[in-house]
Amino acid sequence: MRNRQFGKRIELEMSATYTIRAAKGNDLDGVLALEREIGLVPHWRLVDYVSALTPMGHERETDGLSRCFFLAEIDTSIVGFAVAHIVAAQAELESIGVAEPSRRLGVGGALCAKVIKWSREMCAGTIELEVRSRSEGAMSLYRSHGFVAVGKRPGYYQRPEDDAVLMRLDLASRGPGPDADRGDL
Ligand SMILES: CC(C)(COP(=O)(O)OP(=O)(O)OC[C@H]1O[C@@H](n2cnc3c(N)ncnc32)[C@H](O)[C@@H]1OP(=O)(O)O)[C@@H](O)C(=O)NCCC(=O)NCCS
Repeated sequence: MRNRQFGKRIELEMSATYTIRAAKGNDLDGVLALEREIGLVPHWRLVDYVSALTPMGHERETDGLSRCFFLAEIDTSIVGFAVAHIVAAQAELESIGVAEPSRRLGVGGALCAKVIKWSREMCAGTIELEVRSRSEGAMSLYRSHGFVAVGKRPGYYQRPEDDAVLMRLDLASRGPGPDADRGDL
């Protein structure tokens, strides 16, 4: 029984070849649908995602604001996304989510690494994010990429109510980080 379960996990991992790419306008319906089913990510309106899109796909600078919006795909299905921006050399990872059936395959880590790489290329000095204090999995993912907890915002989240943990990655004090040199990132 244990071997059968193990075999299933290997099979799933082998079939899950994901790619990371910049989001485009015709991806937005898919992103919205995914975001609605994920839960625990901020729920944005279509117009918010439109404003996160970038003409070059990777970066846009308007009034000192740069943004990135990356997708993860498995077999042309959107299974994850990440949105970040930079203002005054400080990046913020605004949202990251992965479809439940595609979790623990490295997709969230690859999206995180892509945002870190982009922030570095855009000369950001730090990346900050807020995460629910009960989202242990997400915090573990961020810690594995070098983020450290630097503060707490009590009662920051509603439905369900939770505190926000503020985490920060100091880009100046770190090397490229895990996955940063992967060919598809
Ligand atoms: C957090 C999230 C993006 C992680 O995506 P993912 O594709 O499963 O992440 P990865 O497979 O790259 O995980 C990398 C590492 O992070 C840690 N991790 C991720 N999810 C975890 C969990 N549920 N429990 C414990 N550790 C976890 C593990 O160390 C994992 O490595 P491992 O699988 O080798 O043990 C995904 O669980 C998600 O979408 N959650 C709901 C939305 C959310 O909480 N977003 C973050 C706040 S906006």
